[in-house]
Amino acid sequence: MPTAADYADKIPNNVGLQEDLRLQRALESWQPNFLNWWDSMGPALPARDVYLRTAVNVGREGWAQFGHVAMRDYRWGIFLAERDPGRVIGFGEHKGEPAWTKVPGEYRSELRRLLVVQGDTEPASVEQQRNLGATAPSLYDLRNLFQVNVEEGRHLWAMVYLLHAYFGREGREEADDLLRRNSGSAESPRILGAFNEETPDWLSFFMFTYFTDRDGKYQLGTLKESAFDPLSRTCEFMLKEEAHHMMVGTTGVDRIVERTAALMVEHDTDDAGPYGAIPLFVIQKYLNFHYSVSLDLFGGETSTNVANYYTAGLKGRWMEDRRADDHKLTDDGIWVDALVDGELAQTEVPALTGLNSDLRREYIADCQGGVSRWNKILAQAGLPQRLKLPHVAFNRKVGAFAGIEATPDGALLPAGEWERRQGEWLPTDVDKTHVRSLMRPVRERGKIAAWIAPPRHGINGRPFDFEYVHLA
Ligand SMILES: [Fe+2]
Ligand SMILES: [Fe+2]
Repeated sequence: MPTAADYADKIPNNVGLQEDLRLQRALESWQPNFLNWWDSMGPALPARDVYLRTAVNVGREGWAQFGHVAMRDYRWGIFLAERDPGRVIGFGEHKGEPAWTKVPGEYRSELRRLLVVQGDTEPASVEQQRNLGATAPSLYDLRNLFQVNVEEGRHLWAMVYLLHAYFGREGREEADDLLRRNSGSAESPRILGAFNEETPDWLSFFMFTYFTDRDGKYQLGTLKESAFDPLSRTCEFMLKEEAHHMMVGTTGVDRIVERTAALMVEHDTDDAGPYGAIPLFVIQKYLNFHYSVSLDLFGGETSTNVANYYTAGLKGRWMEDRRADDHKLTDDGIWVDALVDGELAQTEVPALTGLNSDLRREYIADCQGGVSRWNKILAQAGLPQRLKLPHVAFNRKVGAFAGIEATPDGALLPAGEWERRQGEWLPTDVDKTHVRSLMRPVRERGKIAAWIAPPRHGINGRPFDFEYVHLA
């Protein structure tokens, strides 16, 4: 089995595409549709070339190369992590059996659905971010935006490959539909709510890559455990790329907080807005919004579908092999969030049906890491203010707390109060207008907008002062 991508191929891959003519032709006929989609729904700002990372291999000795490329000529390819021929299923009723190299007929429609829901988010985020290039605070940030965009495009390729290779005609139809649905479209929107919200400014972009891309990381982590080995290997490789998306979000918010803190100290004020920065309380409101809509992406506290996925071996837990239990969970329980007599509380349910809660908890603990990091920046600046994650009941549209309203501290609000007070906690039109007014593009190499600090490091050892993008 070849592991190095063959760059003479139209579709770079390490899956031996050249040996399967039918599949190769199917993907080659999908490719022009993908490029049409990229042209009409991808980045709107014309660029001549961009300093991009391209996946070329999956080995440990280096899997990517860097260089200036025209985005339309980016080598979107198909890469699966190396196969472990001895891999066995790690959980569920098939635990201990050899991993599947084909899709078992009985799980066909469930697996297809999992791929479609994951695949749908990848092009959705490109669509959401399409106009951001026009207001990038530096060439470095513009490059990072485009890097995230081309890699989300590659993740779409990854899911389309699996649909084409393993799901026949239905898979090919689903692959076409992944390009037919569009973020925010009235007739055919993207499947998940958070992926129909626009990303109108760079604070939203960094919050999105921190909180919403991180949801993607956790979903991919559960699919990496899948008994269906091609899916597992696909997700393992996608997770490598996701790490960069997380970095863009984490350090993006770092740099905004750093700049805001510096101006707060310099002018001895709580509100750095008049000095050309994003006020800390506005950063907190954006955080509240992106965190709460991302919590919704994990679904209801209990789910029999997810229990069935687990038992069947389709979708595991985050870090399944580090869990010290029987990996079947048929006799276990878990406490999950619930409304009990109208109060925010917890209730015990079978562990299998509570798996969404388990994953959401892992995610929440991870999110706390970023907040601690941003608070360290505030502390180092000598400021007493702190950012924080809102309570899980805050601004929820999905799950146990969807029907109630609570403050970021988790206090229940009587009817009417929420409408009156939500502007204290979520971005108002005034906040959004202020943030947007700061979004003026900076396109000179080595220069940066006034509302954000420059990064500590450039990309791939290059300095910040580097021509990351040549605009058209
Ligand atoms: Fe992705
Ligand atoms: Fe991502």
